[in-house]
Amino acid sequence: MTTLDIPIGVGQTALFVAWQRHAESQRPDALFHDPFAEVLINHLAGTATHAHVSEVARRANFPQYFVVRTRYFDDGIREALQRGVKQVVTLAAGVDGRPARLPCPPDTRWFELDLPDMVSFKRELMQRSSLPLHCDWRPIVADLTTDWATPLRKAGFDATQPTVWLIEGLLMYLTEAEGNAVVERISALSAAGSVLLLEHLHTLMMSEEGRSARERVESQGARWLSARDDIQDWLSRYGWSAIVHAGADPSITHGRTVDRIPAGWFASAVFAG
Ligand SMILES: C[S@@+](CC[C@H](N)C(=O)[O-])C[C@H]1O[C@@H](n2cnc3c(N)ncnc32)[C@H](O)[C@@H]1O
Repeated sequence: MTTLDIPIGVGQTALFVAWQRHAESQRPDALFHDPFAEVLINHLAGTATHAHVSEVARRANFPQYFVVRTRYFDDGIREALQRGVKQVVTLAAGVDGRPARLPCPPDTRWFELDLPDMVSFKRELMQRSSLPLHCDWRPIVADLTTDWATPLRKAGFDATQPTVWLIEGLLMYLTEAEGNAVVERISALSAAGSVLLLEHLHTLMMSEEGRSARERVESQGARWLSARDDIQDWLSRYGWSAIVHAGADPSITHGRTVDRIPAGWFASAVFAG
Protein backbone atom coordinates (compact mmCIF):
# COMPACT_ATOMS: atom_id res chain seq x y z
CA MET A 1 0.00 0.00 0.00
CA THR A 2 1.26 3.50 -0.78
CA THR A 3 0.83 6.09 1.94
CA LEU A 4 -1.73 7.83 -0.23
CA ASP A 5 -4.08 4.87 -0.48
CA ILE A 6 -7.50 6.08 0.54
CA PRO A 7 -8.58 4.70 3.93
CA ILE A 8 -11.42 2.17 3.87
CA GLY A 9 -13.98 1.03 6.46
CA VAL A 10 -14.67 3.52 9.25
CA GLY A 11 -12.09 5.87 7.70
CA GLN A 12 -14.53 6.49 4.84
CA THR A 13 -16.85 8.23 7.26
CA ALA A 14 -14.13 10.85 7.77
CA LEU A 15 -14.17 11.54 4.02
CA PHE A 16 -17.93 12.07 4.17
CA VAL A 17 -17.56 14.66 6.94
CA ALA A 18 -14.77 16.42 5.05
CA TRP A 19 -17.06 16.52 2.03
CA GLN A 20 -19.63 18.41 4.12
CA ARG A 21 -16.96 20.84 5.36
CA HIS A 22 -15.84 21.46 1.80
CA ALA A 23 -19.42 22.15 0.68
CA GLU A 24 -19.89 24.61 3.53
CA SER A 25 -16.63 26.38 2.65
CA GLN A 26 -18.08 27.24 -0.81
CA ARG A 27 -21.02 29.17 0.62
CA PRO A 28 -20.91 32.98 0.73
CA ASP A 29 -22.22 32.83 4.32
CA ALA A 30 -19.90 29.97 5.35
CA LEU A 31 -19.57 29.36 9.10
CA PHE A 32 -15.93 28.30 8.47
CA HIS A 33 -13.50 27.71 5.61
CA ASP A 34 -11.61 24.44 5.42
CA PRO A 35 -8.81 24.53 2.80
CA PHE A 36 -7.61 21.03 3.75
CA ALA A 37 -11.03 19.62 2.82
CA GLU A 38 -10.50 21.15 -0.63
CA VAL A 39 -7.07 19.50 -0.89
CA LEU A 40 -8.70 16.19 -0.01
CA ILE A 41 -11.60 16.49 -2.48
CA ASN A 42 -9.17 17.46 -5.25
CA HIS A 43 -7.05 14.42 -4.41
CA LEU A 44 -10.09 12.13 -4.62
CA ALA A 45 -11.22 13.59 -7.97
CA GLY A 46 -11.76 10.90 -10.60
CA THR A 47 -11.56 7.99 -8.13
CA ALA A 48 -14.29 5.51 -7.29
CA THR A 49 -14.15 6.88 -3.72
CA HIS A 50 -15.01 10.36 -4.99
CA ALA A 51 -18.05 8.97 -6.80
CA HIS A 52 -19.10 6.94 -3.75
CA VAL A 53 -18.69 9.75 -1.19
CA SER A 54 -20.46 12.15 -3.53
CA GLU A 55 -23.39 9.75 -3.80
CA VAL A 56 -23.53 9.17 -0.03
CA ALA A 57 -23.42 12.94 0.55
CA ARG A 58 -26.17 13.52 -2.00
CA ARG A 59 -28.43 11.03 -0.23
CA ALA A 60 -27.67 12.51 3.20
CA ASN A 61 -30.11 15.42 3.51
CA PHE A 62 -28.80 16.76 6.81
CA PRO A 63 -25.52 18.58 6.03
CA GLN A 64 -26.29 21.39 8.47
CA TYR A 65 -25.74 19.03 11.40
CA PHE A 66 -22.07 18.63 10.46
CA VAL A 67 -21.67 22.33 9.75
CA VAL A 68 -23.03 23.34 13.14
CA ARG A 69 -20.97 20.64 14.82
CA THR A 70 -17.77 21.87 13.18
CA ARG A 71 -18.43 25.47 14.17
CA TYR A 72 -19.34 24.51 17.73
CA PHE A 73 -16.03 22.72 18.27
CA ASP A 74 -14.06 25.41 16.38
CA ASP A 75 -15.40 27.97 18.85
CA GLY A 76 -14.59 25.77 21.85
CA ILE A 77 -11.00 25.24 20.71
CA ARG A 78 -10.46 28.92 19.84
CA GLU A 79 -11.75 29.97 23.23
CA ALA A 80 -9.40 27.62 25.09
CA LEU A 81 -6.41 28.69 22.97
CA GLN A 82 -7.23 32.33 23.66
CA ARG A 83 -7.20 31.52 27.39
CA GLY A 84 -3.63 30.28 26.96
CA VAL A 85 -4.06 26.49 26.71
CA LYS A 86 -1.09 25.24 24.67
CA GLN A 87 -1.97 21.59 24.12
CA VAL A 88 -4.71 20.16 21.90
CA VAL A 89 -5.49 16.46 21.47
CA THR A 90 -7.94 15.32 18.80
CA LEU A 91 -9.02 11.70 19.15
CA ALA A 92 -9.97 10.06 15.83
CA ALA A 93 -8.99 13.17 13.88
CA GLY A 94 -9.70 11.69 10.45
CA VAL A 95 -9.00 14.35 7.83
CA ASP A 96 -9.95 17.23 10.10
CA GLY A 97 -8.16 20.36 8.83
CA ARG A 98 -8.24 22.38 12.06
CA PRO A 99 -4.47 22.39 12.73
CA ALA A 100 -4.10 24.16 9.36
CA ARG A 101 -7.00 26.55 9.70
CA LEU A 102 -7.51 27.64 13.31
CA PRO A 103 -5.25 30.42 14.50
CA CYS A 104 -2.98 29.02 17.19
CA PRO A 105 0.19 30.36 18.80
CA PRO A 106 3.29 28.64 17.32
CA ASP A 107 4.14 27.02 20.67
CA THR A 108 0.82 25.12 20.64
CA ARG A 109 1.27 21.35 20.39
CA TRP A 110 -1.55 19.72 18.47
CA PHE A 111 -1.67 15.93 18.78
CA GLU A 112 -3.98 13.93 16.53
CA LEU A 113 -4.67 10.22 17.00
CA ASP A 114 -6.19 7.83 14.49
CA LEU A 115 -5.71 4.39 12.93
CA PRO A 116 -2.54 3.71 10.89
CA ASP A 117 -3.96 4.03 7.36
CA MET A 118 -5.67 7.31 8.19
CA VAL A 119 -2.57 8.81 9.83
CA SER A 120 -0.32 7.92 6.86
CA PHE A 121 -2.87 9.20 4.38
CA LYS A 122 -3.38 12.50 6.15
CA ARG A 123 0.29 13.11 6.92
CA GLU A 124 1.24 12.65 3.27
CA LEU A 125 -1.66 14.73 2.00
CA MET A 126 -0.80 17.53 4.42
CA GLN A 127 2.85 17.43 3.30
CA ARG A 128 1.88 17.54 -0.39
CA SER A 129 -0.44 20.50 0.19
CA SER A 130 1.15 23.91 0.60
CA LEU A 131 -0.99 24.73 3.61
CA PRO A 132 0.92 26.51 6.38
CA LEU A 133 0.73 24.91 9.82
CA HIS A 134 0.92 27.51 12.57
CA CYS A 135 1.04 25.01 15.41
CA ASP A 136 3.39 22.11 16.19
CA TRP A 137 1.32 19.31 14.63
CA ARG A 138 1.99 15.76 15.83
CA PRO A 139 -0.05 12.98 14.21
CA ILE A 140 0.07 9.69 16.14
CA VAL A 141 -0.92 6.15 15.19
CA ALA A 142 -3.16 4.73 17.92
CA ASP A 143 -6.11 2.42 18.31
CA LEU A 144 -8.36 4.24 20.77
CA THR A 145 -9.73 0.96 22.11
CA THR A 146 -6.25 0.15 23.49
CA ASP A 147 -3.63 1.98 25.59
CA TRP A 148 -3.25 5.15 23.53
CA ALA A 149 -1.82 7.13 26.46
CA THR A 150 1.63 5.58 25.92
CA PRO A 151 2.10 6.71 22.30
CA LEU A 152 0.63 10.09 23.21
CA ARG A 153 3.16 10.61 26.01
CA LYS A 154 5.98 9.37 23.76
CA ALA A 155 4.99 12.02 21.23
CA GLY A 156 5.59 14.73 23.84
CA PHE A 157 2.22 15.13 25.56
CA ASP A 158 2.58 16.77 29.00
CA ALA A 159 -0.10 15.70 31.49
CA THR A 160 0.86 18.49 33.90
CA GLN A 161 -0.35 21.15 31.41
CA PRO A 162 -4.02 21.92 30.68
CA THR A 163 -5.28 20.33 27.46
CA VAL A 164 -8.16 20.83 25.04
CA TRP A 165 -9.52 17.40 24.13
CA LEU A 166 -11.73 16.90 21.10
CA ILE A 167 -13.81 13.78 20.44
CA GLU A 168 -15.92 14.37 17.34
CA GLY A 169 -17.47 11.55 15.34
CA LEU A 170 -15.87 8.75 17.37
CA LEU A 171 -17.86 7.59 20.40
CA MET A 172 -20.71 6.06 18.37
CA TYR A 173 -18.18 3.73 16.69
CA LEU A 174 -17.06 2.42 20.09
CA THR A 175 -18.97 0.22 22.53
CA GLU A 176 -20.21 1.84 25.73
CA ALA A 177 -17.38 0.19 27.69
CA GLU A 178 -14.79 1.46 25.19
CA GLY A 179 -16.28 4.97 25.38
CA ASN A 180 -16.09 4.88 29.18
CA ALA A 181 -12.46 3.80 28.99
CA VAL A 182 -11.65 6.71 26.64
CA VAL A 183 -13.16 9.27 29.01
CA GLU A 184 -11.50 7.64 32.01
CA ARG A 185 -8.10 7.79 30.31
CA ILE A 186 -8.60 11.43 29.28
CA SER A 187 -9.50 12.32 32.85
CA ALA A 188 -6.36 10.61 34.18
CA LEU A 189 -4.28 12.68 31.71
CA SER A 190 -5.97 16.03 32.43
CA ALA A 191 -4.56 18.86 34.53
CA ALA A 192 -6.98 21.30 36.17
CA GLY A 193 -8.42 23.75 33.65
CA SER A 194 -8.45 21.20 30.83
CA VAL A 195 -11.40 21.32 28.45
CA LEU A 196 -13.22 18.35 26.95
CA LEU A 197 -15.24 18.93 23.78
CA LEU A 198 -17.22 15.93 22.65
CA GLU A 199 -20.04 14.68 20.50
CA HIS A 200 -22.15 11.65 21.19
CA LEU A 201 -25.15 10.16 19.48
CA HIS A 202 -28.72 10.56 20.77
CA THR A 203 -30.27 7.16 21.56
CA LEU A 204 -33.02 8.04 19.06
CA MET A 205 -30.52 7.27 16.33
CA MET A 206 -30.56 3.61 17.30
CA SER A 207 -34.35 3.44 16.77
CA GLU A 208 -36.42 3.31 13.58
CA GLU A 209 -36.13 7.11 13.24
CA GLY A 210 -32.37 6.88 12.79
CA ARG A 211 -32.48 4.00 10.32
CA SER A 212 -31.64 5.89 7.13
CA ALA A 213 -28.66 7.64 8.77
CA ARG A 214 -27.46 4.26 10.10
CA GLU A 215 -27.75 2.80 6.63
CA ARG A 216 -25.64 5.65 5.26
CA VAL A 217 -22.91 4.85 7.79
CA GLU A 218 -23.13 1.13 7.03
CA SER A 219 -22.87 1.83 3.29
CA GLN A 220 -19.44 3.28 4.14
CA GLY A 221 -18.34 0.11 5.92
CA ALA A 222 -18.83 1.37 9.50
CA ARG A 223 -21.35 0.68 12.27
CA TRP A 224 -22.69 2.58 15.26
CA LEU A 225 -22.20 0.66 18.48
CA SER A 226 -23.38 3.06 21.20
CA ALA A 227 -25.43 6.15 22.00
CA ARG A 228 -26.42 7.92 25.24
CA ASP A 229 -28.55 10.81 26.49
CA ASP A 230 -27.07 11.33 29.99
CA ILE A 231 -23.95 13.23 28.88
CA GLN A 232 -23.80 15.69 31.78
CA ASP A 233 -24.13 13.00 34.47
CA TRP A 234 -21.82 10.67 32.61
CA LEU A 235 -19.00 13.23 32.39
CA SER A 236 -19.50 14.40 35.97
CA ARG A 237 -18.63 10.89 37.16
CA TYR A 238 -15.13 11.46 35.76
CA GLY A 239 -14.71 14.97 37.24
CA TRP A 240 -16.02 17.09 34.34
CA SER A 241 -18.50 19.91 34.61
CA ALA A 242 -20.31 20.00 31.26
CA ILE A 243 -22.68 22.20 29.30
CA VAL A 244 -24.57 20.06 26.77
CA HIS A 245 -26.48 21.15 23.67
CA ALA A 246 -28.61 19.16 21.27
CA GLY A 247 -27.23 19.53 17.73
CA ALA A 248 -30.46 21.24 16.62
CA ASP A 249 -30.54 23.73 19.55
CA PRO A 250 -31.11 27.18 17.92
CA SER A 251 -28.74 28.78 20.43
CA ILE A 252 -25.78 27.11 18.66
CA THR A 253 -26.93 26.86 15.03
CA HIS A 254 -26.06 30.40 13.83
CA GLY A 255 -29.41 30.70 12.09
CA ARG A 256 -29.10 27.39 10.26
CA THR A 257 -31.89 24.84 10.49
CA VAL A 258 -30.69 21.45 11.65
CA ASP A 259 -33.02 18.51 11.09
CA ARG A 260 -34.06 16.67 14.23
CA ILE A 261 -32.56 13.57 12.62
CA PRO A 262 -29.64 13.04 12.78
CA ALA A 263 -29.61 13.79 16.45
CA GLY A 264 -26.49 14.21 18.52
CA TRP A 265 -25.24 15.94 21.64
CA PHE A 266 -22.40 18.44 21.76
CA ALA A 267 -20.69 18.94 25.11
CA SER A 268 -18.19 21.44 26.38
CA ALA A 269 -16.75 20.47 29.76
CA VAL A 270 -14.15 21.78 32.19
CA PHE A 271 -12.07 19.50 34.38
CA ALA A 272 -12.38 20.06 38.08
CA GLY A 273 -10.37 16.99 38.99
C1 LIG B 1 -16.59 9.98 11.41
S1 LIG B 1 -14.85 10.00 11.31
C2 LIG B 1 -14.54 11.46 12.25
C3 LIG B 1 -13.28 12.15 11.86
C4 LIG B 1 -13.11 13.55 12.42
N1 LIG B 1 -13.13 13.57 13.86
C5 LIG B 1 -14.15 14.48 11.85
O1 LIG B 1 -15.13 14.79 12.55
O2 LIG B 1 -14.01 14.87 10.70
C6 LIG B 1 -14.37 8.66 12.38
C7 LIG B 1 -12.88 8.54 12.60
O3 LIG B 1 -12.68 7.62 13.68
C8 LIG B 1 -11.52 6.89 13.42
N2 LIG B 1 -11.57 5.70 14.28
C9 LIG B 1 -12.56 4.80 14.38
N3 LIG B 1 -12.26 3.84 15.26
C10 LIG B 1 -11.03 4.16 15.76
C11 LIG B 1 -10.17 3.56 16.73
N4 LIG B 1 -10.51 2.42 17.34
N5 LIG B 1 -8.98 4.14 16.99
C12 LIG B 1 -8.63 5.29 16.35
N6 LIG B 1 -9.41 5.91 15.45
C13 LIG B 1 -10.59 5.35 15.14
C14 LIG B 1 -11.60 6.61 11.94
O4 LIG B 1 -10.37 6.22 11.37
C15 LIG B 1 -12.10 7.96 11.41
O5 LIG B 1 -11.05 8.82 11.09
